[in-house]
Amino acid sequence: IDITASLNKAYPISNELVGVFFEDINFAADGGLYAELIQNRSFDYTSMDREDWGPLTAWSQVTNSQRKAVLNWDMSDPLNGNNPTYAMMLIGEGNGYAGIENTGFNGIYVEKGKKYNFSLFARMLSNEPGPLLIQLVEDDVVIADATTDSLTQNWGKYEVVLSAKKTVANAKLRILSNHSGYHAIDMVSLFPQDTYKKRPNGLRKDLVEAIHAINPKFIRFPGGCLVHGDGIDNMYQWKRTIGPIEQRKAQRNIWSYHQTNGLGYYEYFQLAEDLGATPIPILPAAVTCQNSGARINGFNGKGQMCVMVDNMPEFIQDVLDLIEWANGPATSEWGKQRAEAGHPEPFNLKYIGIGNEDVISEEFKVRFQAIYNAVKRKHPEITVIGTSGPFPQGVDYEAGWSFATELNVPVIDEHMYSPPEWFWNNLSRYDSYDRNKSAVYVGEWAAHADDRSSNVEVALAEAAYLTSLERNGDIVKLSSYAPLLANVKNTMWAPDLIYFDTQSVKLSPSYHVQKIFGQHPISEFIPYHSNNSNLKVAYSFGKADKQVIVRFVNGEASSVPVALHFDGIEGEQTASVVTLQGKALKQLSFEHSSEKIEKFNMSNQHIDLPAYSVTKITIKLDSKIKL
Ligand code: AHR
Repeated sequence: IDITASLNKAYPISNELVGVFFEDINFAADGGLYAELIQNRSFDYTSMDREDWGPLTAWSQVTNSQRKAVLNWDMSDPLNGNNPTYAMMLIGEGNGYAGIENTGFNGIYVEKGKKYNFSLFARMLSNEPGPLLIQLVEDDVVIADATTDSLTQNWGKYEVVLSAKKTVANAKLRILSNHSGYHAIDMVSLFPQDTYKKRPNGLRKDLVEAIHAINPKFIRFPGGCLVHGDGIDNMYQWKRTIGPIEQRKAQRNIWSYHQTNGLGYYEYFQLAEDLGATPIPILPAAVTCQNSGARINGFNGKGQMCVMVDNMPEFIQDVLDLIEWANGPATSEWGKQRAEAGHPEPFNLKYIGIGNEDVISEEFKVRFQAIYNAVKRKHPEITVIGTSGPFPQGVDYEAGWSFATELNVPVIDEHMYSPPEWFWNNLSRYDSYDRNKSAVYVGEWAAHADDRSSNVEVALAEAAYLTSLERNGDIVKLSSYAPLLANVKNTMWAPDLIYFDTQSVKLSPSYHVQKIFGQHPISEFIPYHSNNSNLKVAYSFGKADKQVIVRFVNGEASSVPVALHFDGIEGEQTASVVTLQGKALKQLSFEHSSEKIEKFNMSNQHIDLPAYSVTKITIKLDSKIKL
């Protein structure tokens, strides 16, 4: 292939093209990124979350031959109204300790020498109150233990630090007592001290580091379908997710489990700041998922349930309050709550997404428009992102675009989950988009193999597509692969970018592609012409400061020679080259080349693209060269 790229015709593109999309799917939050080690910590699991779940899921009683414990649950006189259910641990007469234990999320992983912060709320309902013995055990071997202060007859918070004497993968957390009587127990929590940036109520360090390495320019949260939910009360309500964790209202996760909301808006915004990424919260457009109708025979004939028009002022006020919470001064009503949580400075919210893949019904339009107008009126500084409906084409897609055009919505969110061939065949999709209409956010996308595995074939298709997004980066402002995380024991949607278990992280080939585009983002695209007509080879050329970044994707089964010429510049420069190479399309990982430093002839450079590969060439231009 012969390619000529015209440096002097470079045009500006988005400097936020590659971001990440976090949704609590696949146990990505509780049991995942959120570092809490106790499952069902506040005994609020119900059969609505999952058919075989209830308040005592993940808990059981611990008795010995000389003393019995009986575990039950209760709701009278709870810790607070948002936290209705608690455990009632009855310790019988006898000798020694008895109590209850928690299995964590598929076992609790603890590391020798590390410290863990334990806390719970408890009260003694009868007899003489005493302290609790807290233990981490594996196969009855004690890995760590500590004793709380003595309980009282009123709810109180008790905290101890546990130091692990051994590394184990399957520990259980035990709460034991040698005082007979009823113990009410709620909000049992165990966090490693070593969370990301050592934040309390923090996040798993290895997972945040893996996300950080992509160099995401933004983070979208909390979904996905999680946002609109499948019932009015199942919509994500950001106000439920801030404040002390024991006062947050948990709810059913649309992906058929439970969300504690311990990872809530404060934690999401804090994470965005830690990553150096722009926060992009997505809020429901006051309509539920189009599939909700399956649950109640449809409300508007399109499967959506809708917030009643009379309740819209309150709904809209929540959206405006979010902007004040994120950006308002610490003296404002909502800014004060952010400041009290530990962040007096504003979070610099720039974008708000309204709606997720919604069917573009009349009900949707009325509600979207009301929210959109209110935000525009009160906060013209905020860019609203609308939605183009469920699929990258079809009736709703057309309706979504004409509605966005009518309203002049600045950015529209398009989702695409399609076979690898679709991406190769659509590399020119955005070349013909009308530059006078809404800009595009490719908010959820991934190539899907027939068996939904995360392999070389899908990653190559995604890399090729990313070169086309860079080329169209004047109109495609943002993109985020979906979903980001999957717990290997609880994966309900594949493929995903990052897989994990309780102790390790596995990065998919698609992850490495996102990283190759996320690191070294370009600010200007260098247009090119080439004689490639039918080879599965894609490329992009861009400028970033005094560097030229070249990315090649070869989807062919054999190597492809390329002659690359940059117009208007001559001489040799220094380049570093990194390659991801697959041995076969169905392979589940790439071979990674180490970074090679080479001489690069700007006017005529020969490059051999290995079969099934992605290559990034970073050319450092001589400081005397004027661009
Ligand atoms: O990414 C998984 C799901 O795909 C999202 O929740 C939804 O928006 C889309 O259909």
